[in-house]
Amino acid sequence: MSVEAYLNKGIKEIITEFPKVEEILNEFEIACSTCGEGLCLLKDIVEIHYMDEDVEAELMAKISHAIFPNKAIKFPKRKRKTSGPKEINYSPPMKKMVEEHVLIKRWLALLPKVIDNLDLDSEEGLQLINNGIDFIRNFADKYHHAKEEDETFKYFDENFDMIKVIRNDHIRVRGHVKAMLQAIDNKDKNMLAEHLVSYSQILPEHIKKEDEILFPWMDRNLTTNQIGQLYSRFNEIDAEYGDAPVKHRNFIEELEKKFC
Ligand SMILES: [Fe+2]
Ligand SMILES: [Fe+2]
Repeated sequence: MSVEAYLNKGIKEIITEFPKVEEILNEFEIACSTCGEGLCLLKDIVEIHYMDEDVEAELMAKISHAIFPNKAIKFPKRKRKTSGPKEINYSPPMKKMVEEHVLIKRWLALLPKVIDNLDLDSEEGLQLINNGIDFIRNFADKYHHAKEEDETFKYFDENFDMIKVIRNDHIRVRGHVKAMLQAIDNKDKNMLAEHLVSYSQILPEHIKKEDEILFPWMDRNLTTNQIGQLYSRFNEIDAEYGDAPVKHRNFIEELEKKFC
């Protein structure tokens, strides 16, 4: 198989054929093995991680050595828009979403305490969990994920693997939320705890993928005009939601006072 063909092959298939490639990716902190999807093509992984040129050359040399151990075959050098990345300078709309992640991460940090103190019998316990589900559904999903899915992704090919991975995470999260609501109805604390745990296991990695890989990649591929359109659309969404995000922020702050 040619070098080109490997660049256009899914990383999971490459890893199955050459397990050493997984070790190499881990060494470069590219966590394809924990992604759970493994749909991305080798060339996309290199493109979206946007490493320093020397680091990328070293990574590709190691991968080509793993795939073609006895041949001096090199992957072609990728064309770059600019050099010297890593310091992430988000555009204003991406920055907004990264800031929303900060509040979601504060909620995730509180979840172990929320789970330990689950109480579906008292009014206070029910109020707390209902507010938590409201945060998940209305802040993290409706308000935040809608900015991603309905506004940002439409500028890109929906079939791009990284976008599929992110969408699949959202779908999995929604499945857990549905099950959480069912558990509350059934007063089934164990089932509720189980789905809260699964939810809390998906989100940190998901947010990391967006903050460190997807958003910077999108920023590199959006035109200045598109970034402007996106930002004004985000401002419209913020206006539509009025003080709901403030209410959600207050809920997190109250919970931090209670548990921290
Ligand atoms: Fe997301
Ligand atoms: Fe997000």
